[in-house]
Amino acid sequence: MKIETINVSLKKDLELFSYPIFVGNNLLTRADNLLNKYIKNKKIIIIHDCFFSSKPVLDETFKEFVKSIKEITISVNLIAISGGDQTKNMIELTNIIEKTLSYEIDRECLIIAFGGGVIGDIAGFAASILLRGIKFINVPTTLLSQVDSSVGGKTGVNSKLGKNLIGSFHQPVAVIADINILKSLPDREFRAGFAEVIKYGLIKDKSFFNWLELEFENIFKYDDLKLQKVITKCCQIKADIIQEDEKEYGNRALLNLGHTFAHAIESFGNYDGKIIHGEAVAIGICMAFKFSSKYSFCSRSDTERVINIFKKSKLPTSLKDIPDLSITTLTMVEKFKYDKKTRNNKLTFILNHQIGEAFIKHDVNVNELIEFINEEI
Ligand SMILES: NC(=O)c1ccc[n+]([C@@H]2O[C@H](COP(=O)([O-])OP(=O)(O)OC[C@H]3O[C@@H](n4cnc5c(N)ncnc54)[C@H](O)[C@@H]3O)[C@@H](O)[C@H]2O)c1
Repeated sequence: MKIETINVSLKKDLELFSYPIFVGNNLLTRADNLLNKYIKNKKIIIIHDCFFSSKPVLDETFKEFVKSIKEITISVNLIAISGGDQTKNMIELTNIIEKTLSYEIDRECLIIAFGGGVIGDIAGFAASILLRGIKFINVPTTLLSQVDSSVGGKTGVNSKLGKNLIGSFHQPVAVIADINILKSLPDREFRAGFAEVIKYGLIKDKSFFNWLELEFENIFKYDDLKLQKVITKCCQIKADIIQEDEKEYGNRALLNLGHTFAHAIESFGNYDGKIIHGEAVAIGICMAFKFSSKYSFCSRSDTERVINIFKKSKLPTSLKDIPDLSITTLTMVEKFKYDKKTRNNKLTFILNHQIGEAFIKHDVNVNELIEFINEEI
């Protein structure tokens, strides 16, 4: 399989900064070739998911990756942490930072995040504040992180008050998405990642959504070429959006479709695995569409098509699908106040005019929202 490369180009301090996202198969065992330019003769700290050591296939790939980069670097130190949103907090961040400092790093050192979105978010955040910022490379190992979280430079951890409330913008210098590593993903995690894939079609690309409706079964069978197309397409859409609006002053917020609902839902689950990010996003997107059609922004038939693809992908589509969460309308609306799009107590949601055309709706009417959530619960 040919390697696909997407370049993300951004303006930094009046200069152009650009980084590649490599998408292909078996890239990790030859990572020294792809990463030579960034890691040669450097001290490297790899922050990785500790889960890998318990899975022989993953452990093998990870060891080969470490071996390949050891050949061209000064030193490689490993820090193992658990995946899952329970890890994405300030205590774990402090541990990572203290451990990294103990390796006598300097500003030429580089961090490699090797794991899913949780590892990428927390390791990227650590890189952004260590010595006031050192470089980092993302090696995403879940579908969700390959299509979404590894790209765009949002890094951070959760607060007790809400999801991703503490963080920074810190772009990676390179991203390697190796399709082969997805083969060990549990079915539930793969499907959760697919929720973010669907999101890209819904935001901006109707023909991609149409294609997903036709091909989702082959994608779930790990058809390599189709998966490469999925990852490349999502990363290209994300790159196009963030190139225009890196710090989310405008259209980058579209990438948040379903996420205001999703982040609230996740926090009700206390990040204990009852509901995982992609599942919450699936419910959140269905809610955004239902809200859009209830208030005549979009047609009921589009909403039904959206709910249908999530159902066929065996993802939850309604709060009623997760009965253990004990959500009330008022506690949910309360959570929206912590959404990063909220300004002066005015709520902003991403809604849709149709499939492939999301828009930013400022100052959403709270009474309409309450009426809507009452029907959903
Ligand atoms: N920064 C961003 O722009 C952005 C965008 C979307 C989501 N996110 C964040 O990403 C996180 C979700 O990412 P995620 O779903 O990758 O979570 P994750 O990192 O917790 O990984 C999910 C699970 O899969 C396991 N795992 C990882 N790679 C594996 C592999 N190859 N084989 C088998 N198991 C593997 C992990 O141990 C974990 O249990 C959330 O915290 C979310 O907020 C961030």
